[in-house]
Amino acid sequence: MRKDPLAFLANQLESLKQQGLYRKLRVLEGKPEAHTTFDHKSVVNLSSNNYLGLTTHPKLIKAAADAVQNYGVGSGAVRTISGTMEMHMELERRLAAFKRVESVVVFQSGFAANAGTVAAVLTKEDVIISDELNHASIIDGARLSKATIKVFPHKDVDAARKIIKDLPADQKKILITDGVFSMDGDLGSVPELSALAEEYGAIMMVDDAHASGVFGNSGSGTVDHFNCHGRVDIQVGTLSKAIGVLGGYVAGSRSLIEFLYHRARPFLFSTSHPPAVTAACLAALDILETEPQWIEKLWDNTRFFKAGLDKLGFNTGLSQSPITPVIVGQAATAAKMSDALFERGVFAQSIGFPTVARDKARLRTIVAATHTKEDLQFALDAFGAVGRELGVI
Ligand SMILES: Cc1ncc(COP(=O)(O)O)c(C=O)c1O
Repeated sequence: MRKDPLAFLANQLESLKQQGLYRKLRVLEGKPEAHTTFDHKSVVNLSSNNYLGLTTHPKLIKAAADAVQNYGVGSGAVRTISGTMEMHMELERRLAAFKRVESVVVFQSGFAANAGTVAAVLTKEDVIISDELNHASIIDGARLSKATIKVFPHKDVDAARKIIKDLPADQKKILITDGVFSMDGDLGSVPELSALAEEYGAIMMVDDAHASGVFGNSGSGTVDHFNCHGRVDIQVGTLSKAIGVLGGYVAGSRSLIEFLYHRARPFLFSTSHPPAVTAACLAALDILETEPQWIEKLWDNTRFFKAGLDKLGFNTGLSQSPITPVIVGQAATAAKMSDALFERGVFAQSIGFPTVARDKARLRTIVAATHTKEDLQFALDAFGAVGRELGVI
């Protein structure tokens, strides 16, 4: 019998189990809504990035269904061959106006947008100065670029300054931060890092995946929230979270976008979005511009839920957004707490290493505009009971 050359993977999985880091995939059986069914259990869903409830908004569903009827289910090719449809161009024009920039290019995902852009813009001669908690897609793009990567401690602008001031003036360099950090929910130091980039002639990049649809005028992001228009050269946004569909985009100057059309590898080598995705994204932009009640409700729910968790005595870190971590320390405790909450009808996924530091395992909660106050109070009561049972509070 042939010896399995992948046997080492089973050993690694066993080690994950021993560390409490092995997680079974929860299977969504209902619609991706604030209250739904996973694994045959009806739950208040606190684990989705569907901030505004747009995944099931009737206008998005209709736009997607009409697009399938009119244009079919696939685009048939990559953008640069024959896979660019008029609606792809329309979405890019609409996003550029929304972000108040010259141009936008849409990628298949936020991950592809980040990794594809960093890898295309930088080369091995360049230096990337990156917050330690930046998203994995930025890190992967940085590795692909072969540029020198210098990491500064989370939001430590002085440390970033120490790195940048020692670089030669003519060195090509880029400062990168997330707009909202995905596991902690705090905001990146966008104004301070933009000032540093200006002082030292660096490119400034912000990954606004979790700010898109959440911060700024009509959800246009942290650059608008901080009034940093014109100071951030590369803005990345996602269409997969608050926008409710799928995709990522890069917003910036016409020459940046033209360059990415020619050099960003996910754009060049992977098929473009099907019509239903693009049409639904266009409908989502209409909603952001005409139905402000969703963002208002999101923030109202966020304040209510955070205040409840704080009152119960949980460690919720330094979050400034609808992402509220409940930090418990060990991965095994986080997993146990998540399972106990699930039994009580609340889904708050546990997150451990390598997504967060080994001693900072947590339950990551995200409220949505579509949660009712009763949903949130129900979840808070369950958190209180389980937190006390496990000695977390
Ligand atoms: C900060 C950040 N950037 C980028 C991404 C990638 O976005 P997408 O899910 O559209 O690939 C994510 C999603 O996990 C994220 O949290």
